[in-house]
Amino acid sequence: MANVHLMDHPLIQHKVGVLRKTSTGSKEFRELVSEIAMLMCYEATRNLKLKEVEVETPLATTKIKQIDGKTLGIVPILRAGLGMVDGMLNLVPTAKVGHIGLYRDPDTLNPVEYYCKLPYDASKRELFVLDPMLATGGSASAAIQFIKDKGAKKIHFMCLIAAPEGMKRLQEEHPDVEIYIASLDEKLNEHGYIIPGLGDAGDRLYGTK
Ligand code: PRP
Ligand code: URA
Repeated sequence: MANVHLMDHPLIQHKVGVLRKTSTGSKEFRELVSEIAMLMCYEATRNLKLKEVEVETPLATTKIKQIDGKTLGIVPILRAGLGMVDGMLNLVPTAKVGHIGLYRDPDTLNPVEYYCKLPYDASKRELFVLDPMLATGGSASAAIQFIKDKGAKKIHFMCLIAAPEGMKRLQEEHPDVEIYIASLDEKLNEHGYIIPGLGDAGDRLYGTK
């Protein structure tokens, strides 16, 4: 799978394992999602372009390599994607943040949009769409389509746990998008939940169930 990057770093794998446990409460869950997002960000940004800039050290003038932070954007899918924003911003603090509000209709499993606000210059930025869960792929695919409709050209999708069904859909509908995952799980159940998964990511982050 050419555009899929499975992040198998032991720290990421360990932390995803803890997330899955029913006994992990909301506080720890939030901390772990943020930490995993930061670790994934480190890996997913390894191909960012650097530019050379001249600076003064205490002893001489030299050229340093610098990331142009103005070229990055982060777009969490509400609600659960919000849990990944701080981890990303810890490493790329100058990135702008857009938001896409989507929820899955529990009966049809189709995504319903209720909010979209992107940086004014989103079309010029390299955008990372964030959501911990890729289940049927409906939410991620719709979010990416909104962003493309606003002119974005270079898009990455980052999630913690993916189902094969969602991966297939995303690859078919958006073959140009780089996908970063920490785990490819077995399947979806009859309610569209990922098995073994971790349950409902939004509810576990915010304690709503
Ligand atoms: C969850 C999750 C994804 C979506 C994945 O959100 O955070 O956005 O489901 O499912 P899909 O791949 O089948 O579209 P949910 O709709 O539960 O909304 P929430 O984040 O507000 O809880
Ligand atoms: N959304 C979740 O939060 N979890 C799943 O398993 C599927 C969709």
